[in-house]
Amino acid sequence: MAFDQRNSVGSELYVTIVQQPPTLKRKFLGANFLAFRRDPLGFLQRAARACGDITYFRMGPQNVYFLNHPDYVKDILVTHNQNFIKGRALQRSKRLLGEGLLTSEGEFHRRQRRLAQPAFHKQRIATYGVTMTDFAERTSARWADGDTLDVAEEMMRLTLGIVGKTLFDADVESEAQEIGESLNTLMELFNAMLLPFSEILEKLPLPQNRRFQVAKDRLDATIYRMIDERRRTGEDRGDLLSMLLLAQDEEGDGKGMTDKQVRDEALTIFLAGHETTANALTWTWYLLSQHPEIESRLHEELERVLVGKRLPTFEDVPSLRYTEMVFAEAMRLYPPAWAIGRLAIADHKIGGYVIPAGSLVLLSQYVMHRDERFYPEPEHFDPTRWTPEAREARPTYSYFPFGGGPRRCIGEGFAWMEGILLIAALARNWKMRLVPGHPVELRPVITLRPKHGMRMTVGNRQQ
Ligand code: HEM
Repeated sequence: MAFDQRNSVGSELYVTIVQQPPTLKRKFLGANFLAFRRDPLGFLQRAARACGDITYFRMGPQNVYFLNHPDYVKDILVTHNQNFIKGRALQRSKRLLGEGLLTSEGEFHRRQRRLAQPAFHKQRIATYGVTMTDFAERTSARWADGDTLDVAEEMMRLTLGIVGKTLFDADVESEAQEIGESLNTLMELFNAMLLPFSEILEKLPLPQNRRFQVAKDRLDATIYRMIDERRRTGEDRGDLLSMLLLAQDEEGDGKGMTDKQVRDEALTIFLAGHETTANALTWTWYLLSQHPEIESRLHEELERVLVGKRLPTFEDVPSLRYTEMVFAEAMRLYPPAWAIGRLAIADHKIGGYVIPAGSLVLLSQYVMHRDERFYPEPEHFDPTRWTPEAREARPTYSYFPFGGGPRRCIGEGFAWMEGILLIAALARNWKMRLVPGHPVELRPVITLRPKHGMRMTVGNRQQ
């Protein structure tokens, strides 16, 4: 793909042909696509190393531009965000999430964001702190010294319980297994929905389509039942669902959301709001287990701030500085959202190239967060990278676990508080150690999961 760029030098008008950005050499047609599907993280890292800040490749008929510089991230997500819409993965997830915040576009998205925003205000989130630590206590109560557990599963159960309580004021932890299974079925099948030709496959009477429908119907039935109860009683239970039901668009038509819109937003928050945080926490426990000196420093902070091993509260969050740094560094190495995709709706100029309308633009937190230009010895787990001075010295978008611009994660404040409070509440009492020989591999599906779970032994620090 080339384009004409007309420049005038003095009176002379000349034409330069600007070439396509570099691409990875491939052995056969479609090799890059296969390599990407097999190992997306490795492929993108190789691409950034070999091709620099802009790589071009094709995935079937799709032109893909992988951008790996903080300025480009800002350009796409913030400065020229209106030139882009969400990529195919999110468009495909409309089948499950409808027109929720993650998937909707344009004016509709702006309106929904205005309506949902109050539910995520700082004061509101503060009230969720108690739920977070309460659920951490319940988790602690189930563990015994020397137990071997899948910490990935434990974290999923914990964050699912928290989002269930804060969103629906419902004690879903008791039903967590069942809801978790529905969600897991949906997420697994959802990955299949991202394969080429899946639009055709999903119309066929295949068992996985049937399973998808059953799991979706089950979740929908629960959510609509809750919406219905609230509408009937008109009660403000102080949870996110009440906020969504009560919200009125003062800047727009003054109206609220329909049941379908509330359902779409609630399910979106339910899904977006637990797996990401669960993975971030799982990787945090893994990293701490591999770095006892960092773990000791964390314990020192907890002993200083939470005198007498008391439970942390929302007010402690600003004092838990090192805990926050540990969480930030874990999300650098293992960003739960490992890539963001956008479709260009108009030709877009960047870095001396033109990305034609219809192309897919890829940005990868995983690759950027391991770029030595911004993080010397990038593989090294070092929370001191997150002192205010060290942060200041780096370009803002060299770290973007929560995205950026108008589509930035609405749950970011929630996630930071949850991460910090749960690390503090659990590390107060427990030390996790990886079961010897347990394989630790990455599984970059929608979020960055540990492929084989995370089998760890929990040791009680009070004993
Ligand atoms: C560590 C935890 C989390 C991470 C790493 C994370 C990451 C992200 C990212 C990268 C995006 C932007 C996606 C894009 O631009 O394509 C996003 C959007 C979103 N996240 Fe999160 N998230 C986390 C936790 C949460 C929580 C706790 C909630 C809700 C309780 C939440 C709800 C949402 C929603 C609703 C959106 C869509 C926002 C919009 O487009 O207006 N997330 N998240």
